[in-house]
Amino acid sequence: MREPDQTDTPPDVPETGRVLVFDSGMGGLTVAREIREMAPGLAVDYAADTGFFPYGDKSDEALRARLPEVAAALTAQARPDVFVIACNTASTLALDEVRARLDIPVIGTVPAIKPAAAQTRSSVIGLLATPGTIRRAYTARLIEEFASDVTVILHGSVELVRLAEAVAAGEPHDPQGFADTLRPIFEAKSGEKIDTIVLACTHFPLVAEQLAAAAPAGVRFIDSGAAIARQTLRVLSGQSHAGPATSREGGRLYVTDTGGGHERLLKVCERFGFGALQPAVLVQT
Ligand code: DGL
Repeated sequence: MREPDQTDTPPDVPETGRVLVFDSGMGGLTVAREIREMAPGLAVDYAADTGFFPYGDKSDEALRARLPEVAAALTAQARPDVFVIACNTASTLALDEVRARLDIPVIGTVPAIKPAAAQTRSSVIGLLATPGTIRRAYTARLIEEFASDVTVILHGSVELVRLAEAVAAGEPHDPQGFADTLRPIFEAKSGEKIDTIVLACTHFPLVAEQLAAAAPAGVRFIDSGAAIARQTLRVLSGQSHAGPATSREGGRLYVTDTGGGHERLLKVCERFGFGALQPAVLVQT
């Protein structure tokens, strides 16, 4: 099967280009951060599908219908050279549909099962994702292809998505929530042997420290952020784009609901370099 984003080779660093990083909420900021660190010259914008957050508990049908339309509306408005779906829940379901709808390259984010299976010494790994990603055929195929000789213990949590946003926003939260989320993985059969956990939701690196503190010592956490960033640069470097179609400045923030009340999102995005000087742009779908 095609496995889009997991190679390690360092890419050339493009000096210009506009990237739109997309997620349901704040999780994609962890991918945007990697892209900006690797290629400071790029204009990077961010879009959160606030009108449909969270994705993790939505039906496949609803997401499949929505994602290509939202991607098309955002692309028409932001005019990026590359569209990055910084969301496992969306990519494992509708990457092909979004690619078919857009006429620019689309980079997807899929669980880092291949590197986790390569690195584990105990041959038991955990996979922490949204319930949507856990039940995908795409995820099952990744496990079959890259981790067939490894025991993979899967656990889906939407609560951890919400907890990650609360932590990122500096809001009060139950610190016990991290141990509660990890417990079913470590209490599953062979769970005590886990030495590696795949963070297969882009929200989860927001709370990597808290998860590490709640896990047994020595357990390693792996996510796809850096691999997605490298793939984005690789695609941009190979592209003969005319440079940003609009402003050269990055940092614009797009949301998809008209409800207002984006202070919390804005506050977190500002910390990641988005939305500080640009008003949020509303996309009607
Ligand atoms: N950040 C998303 C992911 O990578 C999904 C979070 C959600 O909206 O449930 O899967």
